[in-house]
Amino acid sequence: MAPTMDGILEGSIVGSFTNIGYRLRSGDWDADLARLDGQTVVITGATSGIGLAAAHQMAGLGARVVLVGRNQAKLDKSVTAVASSGGGEAGGYRADLSSLDQVRDLADEILAGEPRIDVLVNNASVLAPERSSSIDGFELTVATNLLGTFLLTNLLIPRMVESAPARIVTVSSGGMYTEGLDVAGLQMSAEDYKGSAAYARTKRAQVVLTDLWADRFAGTGVVAHSMHPGWVSTPGVAASLPVFRRVMGPLLRNADQGADTIVWLSSNPEALESTGQFWMDRRPRSKHRLRRTEAGDAQAEQLWGFLCEATGWLPPAGWPESGDPQ
Ligand SMILES: NC(=O)c1ccc[n+]([C@@H]2O[C@H](COP(=O)([O-])OP(=O)(O)OC[C@H]3O[C@@H](n4cnc5c(N)ncnc54)[C@H](OP(=O)(O)O)[C@@H]3O)[C@@H](O)[C@H]2O)c1
Repeated sequence: MAPTMDGILEGSIVGSFTNIGYRLRSGDWDADLARLDGQTVVITGATSGIGLAAAHQMAGLGARVVLVGRNQAKLDKSVTAVASSGGGEAGGYRADLSSLDQVRDLADEILAGEPRIDVLVNNASVLAPERSSSIDGFELTVATNLLGTFLLTNLLIPRMVESAPARIVTVSSGGMYTEGLDVAGLQMSAEDYKGSAAYARTKRAQVVLTDLWADRFAGTGVVAHSMHPGWVSTPGVAASLPVFRRVMGPLLRNADQGADTIVWLSSNPEALESTGQFWMDRRPRSKHRLRRTEAGDAQAEQLWGFLCEATGWLPPAGWPESGDPQ
């Protein structure tokens, strides 16, 4: 069989992850996305880059978009911009996702203020060049990208089950291809710390966590997907990877292109037909490019155990588990 354009691109990191891949693949896509009228979409990290672009796009599809940000002034500005961009409506909640107390308060506020949650986009993340600790004493990358994501999602899940069909979309990274799941090595010591490795390990763990959610929520009407936005020019990349940004320059995707698959997974009926997949450019992709990154169920369950212990989260009565349709 002749190789497809998508298959050729998939074999090349630069071709696939840059705007070359986006431009070549998007030629085959439907111009119109499914509408989100009457639906509520919660997006973390919605005050910048890819998250802000996704917020604008989903408001344009008619959703009520709930932006989560940590900086009140940026949040207010983003909510106003999204609300005035037409289509849907917007609201905002402030929280630093690296703080477990703030995540618990955030979840309480969202549950009090939002009668339904159709989509949760776990987009907020940090790539910290220098090691630092969260207010709870965890390495900051782990605290933000993993603990905050895990706890917020688990606290919002009962409302998502009530709103089903519903979707969790977790924004991982192609960087995760370089790392396997090593629960003990997630929090790197000061001597070993490398920002890009710490980041990639949490991004791998987000993909494994998505598999765990997919298993646990099977039969509830809530699907869980992870995705990779490609290499995107954003304030986060400018701050954390200035050399990469300079070298890749014009080849980087813009924020709207980076947000495209988030919006597609949040709206397209096809994304409800499967769960636990890793997507890029509207197609499921392999979760591994290297044999050494593959892990078994025992390691995945070890991750779940670590996340429960670190966040102090326990499954409440009625928590959805696999094979226990609501
Ligand atoms: N850009 C890329 O090439 C690329 C590639 C692969 C994956 N990704 C993923 O795409 C997602 C978005 O990245 P981006 O490039 O758009 O980054 P960005 O411009 O830095 O945006 C990140 C967002 O997360 C928020 N955030 C960070 N730490 C937080 C915390 N502790 N509490 C609450 N919010 C916090 C930021 O808030 P502030 O506005 O206050 O800083 C910002 O709104 C991330 O998950 C990233 O890993 C990006």
